Amino acid sequence: MDRTLIKDLRSVIGQTIKLQGWLQTLRDQKKIQFLILRDPTGLAQVAHWKPNDEVLAELIAKMGAETALTITGKVIDNPIVKLNGLEIQLESLEVDNMAEIPLPFDPFAETLPTIDYRLDWRYMDLRRSVNALLFQVQTSVEMAMREYWVKNKFIEVHSPKLMGTPSESGAELFSLDYFERKAYLAQSPQFYKQMAMAAGFERIFEIGPVFRADPSFTSRHMTEFTGVDMEISWINSHEDVMAFEERWLQYIYTRVKELHGDAIKKQFGVDLVIPEVPFPRIPMREAVEILKSRGYALPADKKGDIDPGGEREIAAYVKEKFNHDFVFLTDWPISVRPFYHMRIPEDQTLTRSFDLIACGLEITTGAQREHRVEMLQKQALEKGLHLEPIQFYLDFFRYGCPSHGGFGLGLSRLMMAMLNLNNIREVVYIFRGPTRLNP
Ligand code: 4AD
Ligand code: MG
Repeated sequence: MDRTLIKDLRSVIGQTIKLQGWLQTLRDQKKIQFLILRDPTGLAQVAHWKPNDEVLAELIAKMGAETALTITGKVIDNPIVKLNGLEIQLESLEVDNMAEIPLPFDPFAETLPTIDYRLDWRYMDLRRSVNALLFQVQTSVEMAMREYWVKNKFIEVHSPKLMGTPSESGAELFSLDYFERKAYLAQSPQFYKQMAMAAGFERIFEIGPVFRADPSFTSRHMTEFTGVDMEISWINSHEDVMAFEERWLQYIYTRVKELHGDAIKKQFGVDLVIPEVPFPRIPMREAVEILKSRGYALPADKKGDIDPGGEREIAAYVKEKFNHDFVFLTDWPISVRPFYHMRIPEDQTLTRSFDLIACGLEITTGAQREHRVEMLQKQALEKGLHLEPIQFYLDFFRYGCPSHGGFGLGLSRLMMAMLNLNNIREVVYIFRGPTRLNP
């Protein structure tokens, strides 16, 4: 017998069908047992008349909540059943996997244990339907990203995560033994994205793991995360990269709203707003003035950078002034940008770079890259880098490499902004942090 999904029960009234799912609750009465069964599409009430099969009744009585079951039974129209006006009269029951008693925690309880405890038992936590929805939405987000890229003639690449040199800077770097030498885990696909431009691929993207040995415990940092990266050639400035990113994001939000708008509203209480283009753009120099005028003091040690509080404050300003949830902060000072960002010709202290802030959270850093090898060498030396280890990278720009730029976006950060969630641990499938390597 084929499995019937709970959402389709109404179309099979009067038939004997097969359901598969988890025992959500059991009400064991004198003559009758009511099993509430859950599958990914809903809940159904299954009734067992005990005198029909006393042995089965005993087995059911011993089953813990969350036991995995296969049952067959006849679907009856029964308006008294509050769930969906349907009842399944049990005919046979097979325990696929008995749930031990007690559970580590009840995922369906009113109050849940702390996130850290729930992460120890992540598969139980993920049984909540809100979590299944989250990852359905993420699947659609990635699908929409690809749809847009493929329509725009992008090529997908997969770059190695084991590297002989650091991919960004010496900070936040994981190193490991690699036979007789050291290797590093990629902090981004930065160099290899740019290599694709030197290869003449013109437009590329990659979705893959990124590693950062960041010892901080914040609600937005992980030591391993999924990076969404793209790079395009023949650009005039970082403006071309921003213009692409905003349309791409608009498309992603449009697709997600089409596919999940109602469910997101119901489960997350979020009415998804498709962002209008162009997104507001604010040069960093101006952003610092705006923050000052609003009485927000940036930490002195930040030297032209912005802190999370500042990001939220700028977002509040943009919401008031432009009624927009996104803002590009542009033209960052060289002091807080990597050596490969191109400088603004008219003001060599600034870079052709940007961050995208979504609902007060940095989701993207991007830039036009310096593709002239002499300039690139000079900038690397200024940042105190040694040229020898990055010679292979510098060589990309010696034999005909077009102007180019791109960005990196944190997938989980985007999900946080989209679904209005404030802890990255809730959003990522399996969290990795300084003190968490399990499960
Ligand atoms: O801002 P980041 O460090 O920029 C780069 O890696 C550049 N190579 C990008 C470029 O093309 N110029 O990282 C990109 C994005 C951030 O904006 C953020 O969304 C996310 O990656 N991110 C993190 N997400 C989770 N945990 C962390 N520790 C993250 N660090 C960065
Ligand atoms: Mg950044």
